[in-house]
Amino acid sequence: MYFPIYRPRRLRQNEKLRSLVRETQLSVNDLIYPMFVVPGSGVTQEISSMPGVFHYSVDTLTEQVKAVRDAGIPAIILFGLPPDKDEGASGAFKADGIVQTALESLKKNVPDIILITDVCLCEYMSHGHCGIIDGEEILNDPTLEILAKTAVSHVKAGADIVAPSDMMDGRIMAIREALDDNDYSNTPIISYAAKYSSAFYGPFREAADSAPQFGDRRSYQMDPANRREAIREVSQDISEGADIVMVKPALTYMDIIADVKREFDLPVAAYNVSGEYAMVKAAAARGWIDGKKVTLETLLSMKRAGADIILTYHALEVAEWLK
Ligand code: PBG
Repeated sequence: MYFPIYRPRRLRQNEKLRSLVRETQLSVNDLIYPMFVVPGSGVTQEISSMPGVFHYSVDTLTEQVKAVRDAGIPAIILFGLPPDKDEGASGAFKADGIVQTALESLKKNVPDIILITDVCLCEYMSHGHCGIIDGEEILNDPTLEILAKTAVSHVKAGADIVAPSDMMDGRIMAIREALDDNDYSNTPIISYAAKYSSAFYGPFREAADSAPQFGDRRSYQMDPANRREAIREVSQDISEGADIVMVKPALTYMDIIADVKREFDLPVAAYNVSGEYAMVKAAAARGWIDGKKVTLETLLSMKRAGADIILTYHALEVAEWLK
């Protein structure tokens, strides 16, 4: 098509026309809000590298989740900071663990919001790795059993969906089998399927106190250089029983989001991670960018790339802006 026959500007003349032909919509219905629960009571402590994001104790969390629900956000994903850590991550699957206690309170006091839990061991391990260690090696198969136990304990306590983020091989199948054995065959799994070993998790590790004490996570999380491998990771998790597949981080992995959307017919989630959030907040605080516009454009772009669902620390403010 040639100018002057085709004039793309014809359909951009006013907002009514633009919205008529708009291909992508950002909606509060697609957002999941990550939250952090800590021991104690009366705690509302802002995380220094994530302005606007807080550590809550079970009581303040319960109140805040009511506000999240009232803002129209359909789901939260919960991370826990246990009082103690050890080399077996025992705090991850205890019936009275931090996440389990929070879930019981939320289930009882805040109906009508979906409770998702992050299933991982790094916050509960004294060494900060996502699996059992032997020396400096992170062991795969012995870790699966603990992950499965942790997932079951979350669902018992009230989780509606579990989301394993550890990146051990075979964990979706291990968790699916354990849930089914415990009569939780209706509980969905969101798999952190293509999770990269990323520097963008920096602020989160401060927030969750989960930085590895030696080495890094490159022996289990994906190499940022790899694109085709994401397809293998995702198809593996789907064959093991994942119901929703996630790409993480989001902003620097839009090609992966697009690939996964094109290749598979399951819902695709994208995790707009802590470092992505911190960058926007830091620049906005200096007046270098318009925080609201940049946030909305960023999340819209993730949807355009193919994300059906976005996990984002911006969820609450976005819910407000979209009203
Ligand atoms: C736990 C986990 C991490 C994140 C979510 N679950 C950190 C990591 O893998 O080191 C990162 C979330 C974020 O940066 O916002 N394994």
